[in-house]
Amino acid sequence: MTDRQFPPGFLWGTATAAYQIEGAAAEDGRSPSIWDTFSHTPGKVVGGDTGDVAADHYRRRPEDVELMTRLGVGAYRFSVSWSRVQPTGTGPANERGLDFYRALVDDLLSRGIQPCLTLYHWDLPQELEDAGGWPERETAYRFAEYAELVGSALGDRVRLWTTLNEPWCSAFLGYSSGVHAPGRTDPVASLRAAHHLNLGHGLAVKALRAVLPTEAQVSVTLNPAYVRPFSDAPADVDAARRIDALATRVFTGPMLEGAYPADLLADTASLTDWSFVRDGDTATSNQPLDSVGLNYYSPTLVSAASGDTPRVMADGHKPSEFSAWPAADDVDFHQAPGDRTAMGWSIDPAGMYELLMRFSRAYPALPLLITENGAAYDDKPGPDGSVHDPERIAYLHSHLDAVRRAMADGADVRGYFLWSLLDNFEWAYGYSKRFGAVHVDYATQQRTLKSSARWYADLVRTGRLPQ
Ligand code: NOJ
Repeated sequence: MTDRQFPPGFLWGTATAAYQIEGAAAEDGRSPSIWDTFSHTPGKVVGGDTGDVAADHYRRRPEDVELMTRLGVGAYRFSVSWSRVQPTGTGPANERGLDFYRALVDDLLSRGIQPCLTLYHWDLPQELEDAGGWPERETAYRFAEYAELVGSALGDRVRLWTTLNEPWCSAFLGYSSGVHAPGRTDPVASLRAAHHLNLGHGLAVKALRAVLPTEAQVSVTLNPAYVRPFSDAPADVDAARRIDALATRVFTGPMLEGAYPADLLADTASLTDWSFVRDGDTATSNQPLDSVGLNYYSPTLVSAASGDTPRVMADGHKPSEFSAWPAADDVDFHQAPGDRTAMGWSIDPAGMYELLMRFSRAYPALPLLITENGAAYDDKPGPDGSVHDPERIAYLHSHLDAVRRAMADGADVRGYFLWSLLDNFEWAYGYSKRFGAVHVDYATQQRTLKSSARWYADLVRTGRLPQ
C-alpha cells in the first residue's frame, strides 16, 4: 500500500438504518417498534419529529439504489425493521415485509453492490418491550428466532450479516439515561439489558450459522468509546478505566473474550450481583466471528468528579445522557478543545487510529470493518440548488487518513462505510441533524448529491485518498 492508496478489494460502502430512512410505518403489516412509541411521545424527540415518513425510502428504494450507483460504492449496510418482518416479535414471518428486503437485496446485487444486513438497529417490536424488553432474558431468545427467520429468508443472497448495531446505545441510552427508546431510567435495567444483548448476539450468531451457507460472514457492530483521561492524575485515569469498562468492555468482554471484566463487576457491585448471568451465558456470547464492525465519531474525555465545579458534559450530549449511567456518578465528562461538528462532537481522528490499533492488538485474528464514520453539518442548498459541505469532506479525509495510517501500522481493516447515504431521522435529534452524503429536502423528498458525495465517489473509484 502506498501512502494514500487503499488496497484492491477494500470495501467502500455507505450505511443507513431502517427506522431512520424507511418511513411507511404502518404499511404492509408492519407494527410499532419502541421507536414509533417513543417518537410519538411528546417531548422525546426534537421538534416532535417521528419516523412515520422519514426519507420515504420504503417507496423510493429504486431511486436510492440508483444514488448508490452514482457513488460507485461496492457495499451497502442497511438494517431490517424487526416489526416489519415479524410484527409482534414472535411467530411467523410477515412475507410482505420480507418482500421489501428481498427486492432491495436483488436491486443491490443487480448493480454489483454487496448487501450488508444488520438485524437490529434499535427498533425492538413494541410487544417485546411490553413484555419487559432487553432487561428480560426472553428477549434474547426472541432475537435468535428472528435472526433465524431473516437468515432463512435472505441467506441465499446476503453474504455479510451483523447481529446488533451499537448495543451500548440500546442498553444505556435506552434503559438508563432514557434519551433513546424505550426511555427508561433504571441503571440496573441497563446492565441487565447489556447482558441480554450479549446473550442475544451469541444465540443469534448460532442461529444464523445453522441456516446460512458456509461462505456467509457474521459480525457485530460496536461503538467502543475512545476514552481519554483529562489528566495523568490517578483519579482521572481511573475514571477513564471505569467508563471504558461500561462503554466498551461490557460488550467486548463476553462477545470477544467470553467473560465480563472483573473491574466492571466490582464497579457495579453496589447496584447488582449480576445473578442474571447464568452459567454458560458468556460462553454463548463468545461465538467465533468473521469480523467486527466499529463505529467511530468522536472521543470521550473524562475526569474524576471535582465536586466543586459544575459538571461539564461530553460534547453534544445532553447532561441527561449520562445521568443514571450506572457507577458513573463520580465522573465528569468534558468538552475537548477544538473544532466540532453540528452534533457538538469534537473532531479527533486520532481516536479512529487508536481504536483500530487497540482492536488490532487485542484481537489480531479478527478482521475489522469501519461500519460507520461521518459527520453532521447544517447543510443547505445554495441558490443554484447545489449543496456544498467542505467541512464534511475535511472530516472524512482526516478520518480516512487515520484509517490508512492504522492499516500501515498493521490493522487488518477490510472496509469503510460512510454514515450516511442520506440525511435521515437522527434519533432524539429528529431531522435537525444531517449526516447524509446526499441531501434530502423533507418537504419534497428530493435528493441532491452534496459535494462530499462527489468527493467520496472519486475516492471509491480510485481507492486513493487525495492530498
Ligand atoms: C450511530 C448510529 O448507529 C446511527 O444510527 C446514528 O445515526 C449515528 N451514530 C450518528 O449519530
